[in-house]
Amino acid sequence: MMVDISRRNALILGGVGVGGVAIGGTAFVVNQKKGRRAASEDAPGVALVQPDELRSSGGVLTVSLESSSQKVSIAGRDVRALSYNSGVPGPTLRVRAGDTLNVSLRNGLADPSNLHVHGLHVSPENNGDNMFVMIEAGASFDYQYKLPTNHPPGVYWYHPHHHGYVADQVFGGLYGAIIVEDPEEIAATRERVLVISDITLDSTGTIPTATAMQKMSGREGELVLVNGQLSPALSAGAGERERWRLVNACTSRYLRLRLDGQQLTLLGIDSGRFESPRDVDEIVLAPGNRADLLVTGRVGTSTLRALPYDRGASNGMMGGGMMSGSTATSVDIALATFAVVAARSVKLAAVPDQPASNDLRSATITARRELVFAMGMGGGMSSGMMSATINDQAFDATRIDTTVQFESVEEWTLTNTSTLDHPLHLHVWPMQIIEQDGRPVESAIWQDVVNIPSLSSVRVRIAFDGFRGRTVYHCHILDHEDAGMMGILQAL
Ligand code: C2O
Ligand code: CU
Ligand code: CU
Repeated sequence: MMVDISRRNALILGGVGVGGVAIGGTAFVVNQKKGRRAASEDAPGVALVQPDELRSSGGVLTVSLESSSQKVSIAGRDVRALSYNSGVPGPTLRVRAGDTLNVSLRNGLADPSNLHVHGLHVSPENNGDNMFVMIEAGASFDYQYKLPTNHPPGVYWYHPHHHGYVADQVFGGLYGAIIVEDPEEIAATRERVLVISDITLDSTGTIPTATAMQKMSGREGELVLVNGQLSPALSAGAGERERWRLVNACTSRYLRLRLDGQQLTLLGIDSGRFESPRDVDEIVLAPGNRADLLVTGRVGTSTLRALPYDRGASNGMMGGGMMSGSTATSVDIALATFAVVAARSVKLAAVPDQPASNDLRSATITARRELVFAMGMGGGMSSGMMSATINDQAFDATRIDTTVQFESVEEWTLTNTSTLDHPLHLHVWPMQIIEQDGRPVESAIWQDVVNIPSLSSVRVRIAFDGFRGRTVYHCHILDHEDAGMMGILQAL
């Protein structure tokens, strides 16, 4: 959870010398294994660029997206990567509750693909957010998403979701933000979208293929990017209030974010907003999580940093010498600089409180179930074959794993028997966290990606309202999803 230094994190903090090297204040990402500096060619200080923005009008947004492999600018270099409409990230889509979003996707990749609108509460059927649509290389598909009139505002995102290809395609550069606007405006001096992703580029500017070991742990890129840029510069005036829409689009990397010296007020995580804004010092985003954040400028230059986060190690790989590129998220990474200069004072309206969010802690539970997340080596270490399962089963597109009743409320116990964290994501319906490691939570926390720390369990409740149909839940470490840590749910 956010704003919560876990036991493990506290250990890491106390022992940075053990596995971690703090490189505070520099703009470089260092690959510790090879001891080389990556992509220092992107001169720090280039102004942050916003992705193109497409906004609905009259209740409709119609967009053409084309995925392709081509030359794009990433980390200040011309490289060959994957992109939507030639940009990394793809365009930001801005819609409102009640809107219809039409996306015509042409798959210009050499592999099958499709599209998922992560976090949107829309139908999973037909040409909606249907995970069973497959778009062959060169083919097109027209999606239509109808947002209900009570759709929560917030930060969402889109990315490909064809099983077996998801990690490669997202890591390659296919992602973009979706903003569902507030019903009534929140005063801010300016708004920025910050899509954070990671990637590895070799000296020829191409993305190397992930190894079996990297997939087992969940690959982490050597470069951590903000809107495809390496250490971009942001500037503001003191007292200005910026609204930052943060997306963790990394394939496997957890982001523990800080912006010391500035005032951070969190409006919400994933969909919707908290009843009242919360002052925070740091935010932890598992892969797939988003944050809706206000930053109030204080004179000085601050660095947006991703601090070390320990998400565990793969079974049998502890202390192994072959872990190159695995979970060694032990480096303190400078993601961006934020320079605030003295300015004439600005007076902005206070942030209005939101209606209290739904709270299922007193709801009548119609079914309880347990999902057990496990990992192992199928066929032994040397084969490089990993198994990543939920309730002992790997994903099968022809099997329905979980059938729920439309409009029921269920309680799920999520148990992680492996030594790696797994961030569980459920499509269409957000989850309310009820209990973490045996302790009840104290407020209503809703997320669509919920981290299940290694060797522990989390209890969530879900209200299956709004839509019937078939969709999926899976680990959002996308290599694990591709390896089979995904199940099919049907709401009848
Ligand atoms: Cu963001 Cu099923 O994914
Ligand atoms: Cu999703
Ligand atoms: Cu996982």
